[in-house]
Amino acid sequence: MRTVTLGLLGCGTVGQHVLKLLEKRAPIFADLGVQLSVCGVLVRDPAQVRDVPEGTPITTDPGFLNECGIVVEVMGGVERPLAFLAPILRSNRPVVTANKAMLAERWDALREHALQGQLYYESAVMAGTPIIGPMSTVLRASRFVRLQAVLNGTCAYILTQMEQGKPYAQALSEAQALGYAETPPTLDVGGFDTAHKLAVMARFCADGDFRYEDVQVSGIEQVTLEDIAEARAAGEKIKLVATLERAGEGWRAEVAPTRLPDQHPICTAGAGRNAMVYEGEECGELVFAGGGAGGLVTASAIVGDIMDCVLGFPGHVPLH
Ligand code: NAP
Ligand code: HSE
Repeated sequence: MRTVTLGLLGCGTVGQHVLKLLEKRAPIFADLGVQLSVCGVLVRDPAQVRDVPEGTPITTDPGFLNECGIVVEVMGGVERPLAFLAPILRSNRPVVTANKAMLAERWDALREHALQGQLYYESAVMAGTPIIGPMSTVLRASRFVRLQAVLNGTCAYILTQMEQGKPYAQALSEAQALGYAETPPTLDVGGFDTAHKLAVMARFCADGDFRYEDVQVSGIEQVTLEDIAEARAAGEKIKLVATLERAGEGWRAEVAPTRLPDQHPICTAGAGRNAMVYEGEECGELVFAGGGAGGLVTASAIVGDIMDCVLGFPGHVPLH
């Protein structure tokens, strides 16, 4: 049995579920000939009560990062996690991250490592609904035409609740309580989190250097109960939709509240779910749908990435 040391940056909504799922899946790692040893879990407030396996080494001292074989980043932010991860990546160690904001905004610092297969980030887009895997592998054989997607669980939840007549502010508080929202939630409701995710996806199907700044963004803050009722009367729903499609020699990337017919695959995917319709010339139209936010569903993708990593599979490699 080989021991692999693992360090975690962050132990909030996602991190706690990662630690519990790792403990639960220890037999699978053992079948792979691996015993995972958590050598440190970095937090801000070590006194906080956390739902984690007994003996978890919670700390405010990042010293353990020097000695761990794999680092899992579930801290959030952009520059702060990058400062911790840059030395890890420079020392050719693998990093598993759920942090789409960092991936989208600091691709200049991360791309070279992603190209080397050092970065695993299935959980960064659509959480536990696997889309980064297919986009970074089999879907590349087909010429990409267009995608349309709901990628933010918080907005999906809020708009679904508003369909039942719930006020926007109450629905947002509930999404926060469920652990779906970013800090601050402006990232969700302003459309920026969806734009981060769209930029990450675009690097697999459009341009390996796709810039986050090239996504046109508008959020759901101005959507009213009246707008939703009006759409409903017309047999439509309002969704925060991300679109990426060819436009001349380049690409059009947009995030905006959009009215879709009730029969559209994004609407029939289920209340509050993430969904994507992906069109490729050869693969045709594909629909992916599932949970896109929350601790457990996100942890499932992270633990899957850790399994790939210990098996020796490369991370998610963008277009060269
Ligand atoms: P969270 O609940 O706010 O947890 C963040 C954790 O990071 C906390 O444990 C916090 O420590 C720690 N932390 C923050 N700043 C720190 C610092 N400067 N030094 C040390 N520790 C620090 O966030 P989350 O919901 O788990 O999300 C984590 C990441 O996953 C984000 O990048 C998010 O975008 C991504 N993600 C989240 C979801 C979801 O549904 N929640 C889904 C997919 C991806 P304390 O606990 O001591 O405050
Ligand atoms: N805040 C994000 C969302 C978490 O609501 O979709 C998952 O990326």
